[in-house]
Amino acid sequence: EKAGFDHFMLKEIHEQPKAYRDTMRGRVSDDGQSVTLGEIGMSAEQIKGIRKVQIVACGTAYHAGLVGKTIIERLARIPVETDVASEYRYRSPIITPDTLVIVVSQSGETADTLAALREAQRNGARVLAITNVVGSSVAREADHVLITWAGPEIAVASTKAYTSQLIAFYLFGIYLAQTLGTVEQAAVTELLAAMNELPEQVESVLEQSAVLKQVAESIAKHKNLFFIGRGVDYAVAQEGSLKLKEISYIHSEAYAAGELKHGTLALIEDGIPVIALVTQEELYEKTLSNIKEVKARGAHVLGIANAGSEVEVSKSVDELFAIPKTLPLLSPAISVIPLQLISYYASLAVGNDVDKPRNLAKSVTVE
Ligand code: M6R
Repeated sequence: EKAGFDHFMLKEIHEQPKAYRDTMRGRVSDDGQSVTLGEIGMSAEQIKGIRKVQIVACGTAYHAGLVGKTIIERLARIPVETDVASEYRYRSPIITPDTLVIVVSQSGETADTLAALREAQRNGARVLAITNVVGSSVAREADHVLITWAGPEIAVASTKAYTSQLIAFYLFGIYLAQTLGTVEQAAVTELLAAMNELPEQVESVLEQSAVLKQVAESIAKHKNLFFIGRGVDYAVAQEGSLKLKEISYIHSEAYAAGELKHGTLALIEDGIPVIALVTQEELYEKTLSNIKEVKARGAHVLGIANAGSEVEVSKSVDELFAIPKTLPLLSPAISVIPLQLISYYASLAVGNDVDKPRNLAKSVTVE
């Protein structure tokens, strides 16, 4: 059932290229010019009436929602808030009938996410569910459903569900933007063409697992580390940090790179590992200067950067892992892969039960 892999998590990491293809299948027109999401049953009129989007989810699905915010705001120019479901419910969120609430849940059974969905509907908002389980509670109760076709995810640590949620957000963001006329056709064509390349690009990262295993083994000797990044790199940093904590029990924090000097820099000491995501060209310089700040205090920095930028980035880091270059908005769908593999191998290195980390359940049906 693990198809020759040692753990479900590793199998599921390797299933991501397929999950990307399956989640895109039938949702892009044959000529590659548009996204077709008639299946969600949202009329053009309904889309034009959306004034605000609230994305609500837990854990890894919340991290996908952080990227979702950037995608929808950039493409459709609608303001988006992303909330953790257990916070959203109790903060008296301003939910109006022209709010679209998007709940994101792999299982479709997470108690707080389901309660948030009901709260949104009570207030007259429509709810779109992005879920991996057809017929789940969230899928049944939502007004609109966008299924991620990742297939069953068994490992407690979510991998292919997260990346398929990203794909779902790209598709939905483009769909909104095309309906609203907020993007040029050329930009859509370029995005869709780049999305088609993602599965192969992910494959090429998977082929470099041996390097990431070495990185993980040296990280596993530490008690603390940091992930830093800006923009969508910061969102991915948060996901990388959660994954590492969840299965290796090594403490880490994800920080917006520009925020370090407002307190956290005090924790940087000799030899501490820092994983820096540097995929957003327009932010390179800023992030590189943050990397210099941590290096000056003795941090050992692993940069995760686009192929082609090695020369520029390698001057500032101790080690560099290059990932295939894609459009800046799409980079989370590639940059998270090395972080998943680092977590996996770190968990193995410390001798944990990778698929069943202590204290955690796959589906959290209590509040
Ligand atoms: O099934 P859901 O997507 O609603 O689950 C949400 C979280 O419990 C889940 O993503 C959790 O954070 C994962 N174990 C993280 O790897």
